[in-house]
Amino acid sequence: MWKYIKHYLHFALLAAAFMVGEVLMDLIQPQLMSRIVDEGVLGIGRGGSADLSLIGNLGLRMTGLVLFGGLCGSLNNVFVHLSGQNIGNEMRKDCFGRIMAFSFPQMDQFGAGSLITRVTNDITQVQTFFFLFFRGVIRTSMLMFGSIFFMFRLSRRFGLIVLCAFPLITGVMAVCLIHANPLFKKLQEQLDKINTILQEDVSGIRIIKACVREAYEKQRFGAVNSGLVQTQSHILFIFALMNPLMNALMYGVAAVLLLTGSREVHFGSATPGSIMAAITYTTQLLNGILMLVMLFQNISRGLASWRRIKEILVSEPLLKDGDFRRESDVKGEIRFKDVSFAYPGNSRLILKHINFTIHPGETVAFMGATGCGKSTLVHLIPRFYDVTEGEVLVDGINVKKYRLKDLRSKVSIALQKSELFGGSIEENISWGAPEAGPDAIRRAAETAQADTFISELADSWQTVVAERGMSLSGGQRQRISIARALVKDAEILIFDDSTSALDLRTEARLYRALKETYPNSTKIFVAQRIASARRADRIVVLESGRIAACGTHEELMASSRAYRAIWDSQMGEEERDG
Ligand SMILES: Nc1ncnc2c1ncn2[C@@H]1O[C@H](COP(=O)(O)OP(=O)(O)OP(=O)(O)O)[C@@H](O)[C@H]1O
Ligand SMILES: [Mg+2]
Repeated sequence: MWKYIKHYLHFALLAAAFMVGEVLMDLIQPQLMSRIVDEGVLGIGRGGSADLSLIGNLGLRMTGLVLFGGLCGSLNNVFVHLSGQNIGNEMRKDCFGRIMAFSFPQMDQFGAGSLITRVTNDITQVQTFFFLFFRGVIRTSMLMFGSIFFMFRLSRRFGLIVLCAFPLITGVMAVCLIHANPLFKKLQEQLDKINTILQEDVSGIRIIKACVREAYEKQRFGAVNSGLVQTQSHILFIFALMNPLMNALMYGVAAVLLLTGSREVHFGSATPGSIMAAITYTTQLLNGILMLVMLFQNISRGLASWRRIKEILVSEPLLKDGDFRRESDVKGEIRFKDVSFAYPGNSRLILKHINFTIHPGETVAFMGATGCGKSTLVHLIPRFYDVTEGEVLVDGINVKKYRLKDLRSKVSIALQKSELFGGSIEENISWGAPEAGPDAIRRAAETAQADTFISELADSWQTVVAERGMSLSGGQRQRISIARALVKDAEILIFDDSTSALDLRTEARLYRALKETYPNSTKIFVAQRIASARRADRIVVLESGRIAACGTHEELMASSRAYRAIWDSQMGEEERDG
């Protein structure tokens, strides 16, 4: 945390200095009040005659002190906020940077909901922590220790009474905090769950409505929310127990002080003014302790949040850059050498002993039943995950040896689920390669068969796409995603079931255009339909993570039972669409 504090230390120190000013003013006032009563009103030391000019003089000084104290308080507030907000901003930026550098397994591990809670709510908690620390803790602890110091100056006995009560008060506080601390961590974890459900349900609201699952989702949300309320109540209960205990201790101390003080006044060893000052100091002290209790609640929560933020900040990207810099002579060759793969933290092998080579410029289609590992296989080419066994080579070099940036500029992928960003269509396509000019964008859109529908939209290329592309049809979204992948002009193009929402005629035009416009790129399709796959130079059939067959459509029809079974199941569709 020091890394962040040190940049804004100047604000923090200024805040602390103004705080010292504010507290000193609070501490001097009871002394002046005591003099007003003893010397001004009761005339102690002046034979019992009141001194109006002294009262006026001290009254003016007190007013000055109040104004100065108020000014110091306001300035402290300003600088505390400045440091807290800047520290929060830095943390947010750093967390975001880390998340952007996360590898896929790290995203899987944290989960989107938790990451959102950490970057928003947890950072706000840490900001509150800073605010309370600099305003609250410093102020109350200075006020408390100052009060004890001035009490000793008034009378040693007063000081001792307060000091004796101190261990008792801090003991009660410590017990409560020890019990409350783990609950704050639990509270943030429950917030994670709430955010995860919220995120899922808000983005999936259409399907929830379509399936009339509103009540179920409300119940799911309600269950997590009740858990949160339960933890909050538990924390409240602890502090609700603590408050009356602290109050009792506080008033006990005040009573003992009054009792001792009145005896001392009676015997002439103390003045009424000093008793008044002692009571004011006791009130300040006890209010300080109560305030500290409240502060500790927030501070424990802030520290729990800080630990969660730290987990993001210390997470190094799992996939490290390699050091290969040279350009290879081969362009677009892919080779899998005995590749097996299991998702991190999961022992089940999704891919088993995969061997194949795809030559530069070749078009290969991957087919197979749903869940057999097609997406997983193509994700290994741009190194979204590292293989468990074997090697994936691009242009003869192990993908682990590339700088990720270089590898991913060679490999362009249109993912199975098309994700668009809020912005114009043109921006969404050029997002794949910000340096691409208008001609490249048009060319990519034409190849993806997207130009016709784009020009028919109200604002054509400038039409703004709603969040996640919801204002477009599934097929339109897919074509924009394909255009986005094409605009990069990469050597290897991967389309993971990216044409599933297109009608067969549009799909056929797209494949033809791809072949003509990008003749030298290696093209990999994941396809469900034989009508799509048969256009490829080679078809690879996967079965439960293994290669079951590989060859042209005709070869597979002659030799592969698995392929013929798919053909038989799609025959009707094939015949119909030619
Ligand atoms: N991030 C992940 N963590 C753990 N397991 C996963 C993950 N992603 C996929 N799987 C599992 O890996 C297996 C293969 O998934 P994959 O997405 O590669 O299938 P697929 O062949 O592309 O299927 P589809 O045709 O439905 O897209 C599935 O059993 C799936 O449950
Ligand atoms: Mg898939």
